Amino acid sequence: MNRTPLIVRIAGLAALALGAYFVMKPPAVVDDRVILGRGGAAGAVFTDDATLRNVLGKDIAYTIRPGPYRKAPLARTLKPGAVDRIAADQPVEIEFDNGSRTGAHTLHPGKPYSFRYDEAGVVKVYPGAHGRADAEDLAPFVPTPYPVVEKMLEMAGAGRDDVVYDIGCGDGRMVITAASKYRARGVGIDIDEALVEQARARAREEGVAGLVRFVRMDGTKAHVREATVVALYLLPESLETLKPLFEKELRPGARIVSHSYRIPGWDDRIVREEALTGETGREHKIYLYRMPAVR
Ligand SMILES: C[S@@+](CC[C@H](N)C(=O)[O-])C[C@H]1O[C@@H](n2cnc3c(N)ncnc32)[C@H](O)[C@@H]1O
Repeated sequence: MNRTPLIVRIAGLAALALGAYFVMKPPAVVDDRVILGRGGAAGAVFTDDATLRNVLGKDIAYTIRPGPYRKAPLARTLKPGAVDRIAADQPVEIEFDNGSRTGAHTLHPGKPYSFRYDEAGVVKVYPGAHGRADAEDLAPFVPTPYPVVEKMLEMAGAGRDDVVYDIGCGDGRMVITAASKYRARGVGIDIDEALVEQARARAREEGVAGLVRFVRMDGTKAHVREATVVALYLLPESLETLKPLFEKELRPGARIVSHSYRIPGWDDRIVREEALTGETGREHKIYLYRMPAVR
């Protein structure tokens, strides 16, 4: 006969049940890591989390849709600047309110994403180089259309004596075009290794590998002393971040040409401004700056 008092037995059973619950049911979220896949509480089998960063100035609520890992939607709220890390080995569908209707996006394991405004002020999810602890997030990868690239280089007056830098070079089209069209030398810098590889491969295909160099690094740590032309397609806050580098290192007369965004506080240095309408009807602004002779 069991002589253990009833109350102790009930407490023991409750503790066991509670323990089993926590051991067997992995928590959905540990810190900012949303663990959807197998791997238990640590979610350790997935090292390639998708990251989702909020670079809007407000909270954004989103929902992870039911899928292979979850039967019910999982609601999350991301504070400005916060990053969710989503541990799963299959694509995960999310939904969010984009301001007027419900937006949706698929997040792939190991890839970084961000909530940002598009040019019409609508919240969207972009692929981006953010989510890394070791680098500034200057912009997601959105390539400049080729006619805009050509116009930018023409406005900058790129020629064979120039060294064209692109910080956040993406697939390298800016420096590759400058090299193939004008025989200019060039340096492209990007945080994304896959894009840097793509740029190198493209430079070989175009026969300009001897003129250009692609470097995988955080562009905010780059040196641009040898640049005579800097071609950029970055967000305004990133241009603001890079301004002190340009002030410090660019020589008098160096040109900076920026797609879409003005360099904040430098309107008095704009020497030319153009607008091109792309195939989709979108207007592409281009701003040309020249570094002053005396600083
Ligand atoms: C809008 S895309 C521009 C690509 C290219 N310059 C063009 O105009 O086609 C911005 C690029 O910046 C890169 N990027 C973001 N943060 C970066 C950082 N900290 N250092 C270097 N590149 C970065 C992204 O990977 C992306 O390829």
